Amino acid sequence: AKISVIGAGFVGSTTVQRLAELEPGEIVMTDIVEGLPQGKALDLMQAGAINGYDTRVTGTNDYADIADSDLVIITAGIARKPGMSREDLIKTNSKIIGEVAKNVAKYAPDSIVINVTNPLDIITYVALKSTGFEPKKVFGMSGILDAGRFASFIAEELKCSKKDIEAMVIGGHGDLMVPLPQYTTVSGIPLPELLPEKTIDRLVERTVNGGAEIVELLKQGSAFYAPSAAIVRMAEAVLKNSKRILPASAYLEGQYGQKGIYFGVPVKLGANGVEEILELKLEENQCEILRKSAETIRRGISQLEI
Ligand code: NAI
Repeated sequence: AKISVIGAGFVGSTTVQRLAELEPGEIVMTDIVEGLPQGKALDLMQAGAINGYDTRVTGTNDYADIADSDLVIITAGIARKPGMSREDLIKTNSKIIGEVAKNVAKYAPDSIVINVTNPLDIITYVALKSTGFEPKKVFGMSGILDAGRFASFIAEELKCSKKDIEAMVIGGHGDLMVPLPQYTTVSGIPLPELLPEKTIDRLVERTVNGGAEIVELLKQGSAFYAPSAAIVRMAEAVLKNSKRILPASAYLEGQYGQKGIYFGVPVKLGANGVEEILELKLEENQCEILRKSAETIRRGISQLEI
């Protein structure tokens, strides 16, 4: 397969590194900064000689080089600084991704697109509109990362392995995300059987602020190790057509009472992208947060100049 990663910053280049190690085919990395993707690609090619992979990785500033990609991963744009919300990035990143998406449509018209750029649900909408692709071919990475954070905090609390935890987080990728303890299990045991409600609430709260906690610590830039791990999990599901059921920001057409917006829901992911959206029964307070989250996303979309 041919995979293109747009944006060779922290998230983009870590994603290329993780992918290269899996030998999925050919990888092209692009960025607006001259020399940056080329230099990182060369470094990653040399890492292959030591780490033992033969993946061809190239860097470019020319969109023509993404021609005929099977999968395009968008990570271009700016990230949050301390005190900023993901929504503060709308103006800058929607312009950048509008441009990126037009080039994706031009050079890789048959590709599947995974958007990562924030504010995730709004920028994924920009990617949909600017590519003109079918909604199932364009989706965003959010829930796997948020669920990973939730799982990590649960493992710490239970002093158990992270490997046994399957967490589920849906909703917008922001302050109104909805971690779902009732659909989170440890080796099949529902979380509410293992921890008191108060403790779960504390872990949910930390999950919602999981990205901001890292932004505050780093003082510059935002998370990229866990985000790139989450991206690769989605990429693998597409490349291997594995029909994994994972949370993703998907285009809703009536599901969860919402139409014409993106937010996080469990989906079945395969070679054609989002093959199915799964609807879960939720508690009333969770439905309420989802509705608020959808409103915020709608407000963001109404600010767009596309
Ligand atoms: P970064 O600043 O390290 O990298 C961004 C790269 O995009 C830079 O190299 C920059 O030169 C490039 N770029 C800017 N304009 C461009 C254009 N017009 N065309 C091509 N490349 C362009 O930022 P980082 O940490 O890699 O984050 C990237 C994005 O991913 C941010 O918007 C961030 O908020 C988002 N993000 C989303 C996550 C999620 O869960 N969905 C998790 C982590 C980050």
